[in-house]
Amino acid sequence: METIQQLLDEAERAIAQAQSTADLQAVETHYLGRKGAIGQLLRQLGTLPPEQRPQFGQQVNAAREHLERLFAERRTALEQAELAQRIEAERLDITLPGAPLRPARLHPLTLTMQRVKRALTGLGFEFVDGYDLERFDYNFGALNYPDDHPAMDEQNSFHIAPGYLLRTQTTSIQGRIFEQLQRGERILPIRIAIIGRCYRYENVDATHSHTFHQVDAFMVDEGVSMAHLKGVLTQFAQLMFGAEVRVRFRPDFFPFVEPGVDFAISWKGGWLELGGAGLIHPNILERYGIDTERYSGFAFGLGIERIPMLQYGVDDLRLFLENDLRFLEQFPLL
Ligand code: FA5
Repeated sequence: METIQQLLDEAERAIAQAQSTADLQAVETHYLGRKGAIGQLLRQLGTLPPEQRPQFGQQVNAAREHLERLFAERRTALEQAELAQRIEAERLDITLPGAPLRPARLHPLTLTMQRVKRALTGLGFEFVDGYDLERFDYNFGALNYPDDHPAMDEQNSFHIAPGYLLRTQTTSIQGRIFEQLQRGERILPIRIAIIGRCYRYENVDATHSHTFHQVDAFMVDEGVSMAHLKGVLTQFAQLMFGAEVRVRFRPDFFPFVEPGVDFAISWKGGWLELGGAGLIHPNILERYGIDTERYSGFAFGLGIERIPMLQYGVDDLRLFLENDLRFLEQFPLL
């Protein structure tokens, strides 16, 4: 009797004190396991006088059932506590601020090309695509460069295969468009513009790269004169640089224009050269069967990189190619 009660008291304390399911398992093995305390009590049965055995047996069984119930209850409680602890430990705090997103932005040259395109589209020019890998004929021959003319040396080129080079100027689109006219795929008047990469084999410095961009525009219609060229370039410059800006022409030589000029814009009290321009050389128009008594045209071409260099005060065009975020992030998002 005494012993059973003592054992129960002891076991109840141990159950209450178990702090984890693992602890509890050890306690349970100690009392209810095959070699546990309850089993030992039952083994004493044989030493008792026969008349006491049934009662003792019942008491031991009752004690075991009682303990089994207590173990089950305590196990459930500990399991719940352990689960709660795990949930707490593995909790995701969704209120923590996430890693900041970097807004994507367009490259300053892309922004500039978009603005150029908007301005010239607004002035009635149709944008076309050309080829970076261009036929020598379109890049030079069709543009009235006499064979072996030294002007071709000014644009030292990357010759890729006989008759093919990386275009040195987007003016090379002209011959292709004039051929479309000849084939009847276009009719006059035409106003064409192109933006594209150009390549020249030259020493890279703050204002020259082997790879850069140009925009070319040209129109052919009846009675096109230098006045039209000046008007269009003035409008274009104002759209790009503001209403105050003025344009200046000075005589210059390009084999494909006559007269030829370089043009500059007024900028911070001085003049800044942007590119070349002129009336399309009659040799070119005639070569493609255009009646020069009736039709004439103008053309101009300028470097794209110059524009953001002026507008944002960038003093080295190599920065545009370096993909340095510290540089690129300084430009407006749109
Ligand atoms: C031409 O390329 C002519 N095709 C322009 C033209 C078109 C004249 C139509 C008449 C009629 P030029 O070689 O000067 O001209 O180049 C024009 C502009 O391209 C230059 O003013 C400059 O802004 C830019 N450019 C030329 N070479 C480089 C270079 N290596 N790096 C960056 N920009 C360049």
